[in-house]
Amino acid sequence: MDVRVIEHPLTQARLSTMRDARTDNATFRAALQELTLMLLYEAIRDAEVAEEFIHTPVARTKGYRLANPPLLVPVLRAGLGMADQAHRLIPEAQMGFIGLARDEETLRPTPYLESLPDDLSGRPVIVLDPMLATGGSMLHTIRLLHERGAADITAICTLAAPEGIDRLSESGRPVRLVTASVDERLNESGFIVPGLGDAGDREYGPR
Ligand code: PRP
Repeated sequence: MDVRVIEHPLTQARLSTMRDARTDNATFRAALQELTLMLLYEAIRDAEVAEEFIHTPVARTKGYRLANPPLLVPVLRAGLGMADQAHRLIPEAQMGFIGLARDEETLRPTPYLESLPDDLSGRPVIVLDPMLATGGSMLHTIRLLHERGAADITAICTLAAPEGIDRLSESGRPVRLVTASVDERLNESGFIVPGLGDAGDREYGPR
């Protein structure tokens, strides 16, 4: 599986703000938005562009636009904090929504929302979720997208655990990962170590 770790002074600085237990909800959300911008910017680096001629005030020249804008899919709750920023960066993108809550005992994702176009063949899809822990939530999401015909799926996760990456890799599903860090491991409660805690709680408060 293609895993791209974006290590830049600014991605590391924003991620450190998110990791710091002293960071309040509002500052956490702001850092997540800024990090989303940076990761998404890198994630679409190789996207296909269409050329067209434009006129500057001075001359005619070649212009560019995204040839095939992606479908953005935030995974609620935590991915919702990435959605607006991603949409600002790619305003022509459409958006679908998936809602999952991980059972704290079994660590399995329980679906509660699925709002996606029926046919995703030929469309790039970008999934937004701050955390890839066991990989159960992302795998569920990728299955839904793949079943609708998506074959070009990019997951943007601020943080990933090696266990989650292995699980996605072993699934054989068409996905690549863009992240700011691959952390050490999962602990016995399924939290990423060192991680940042529960991203949804840190954005919106505990459930
Ligand atoms: C978190 C996180 C991912 C998932 C990662 O969400 O945002 O969606 O857990 O864990 P996994 O890789 O082991 O599946 P959670 O289910 O806590 O819901 P929330 O976003 O509503 O807080």
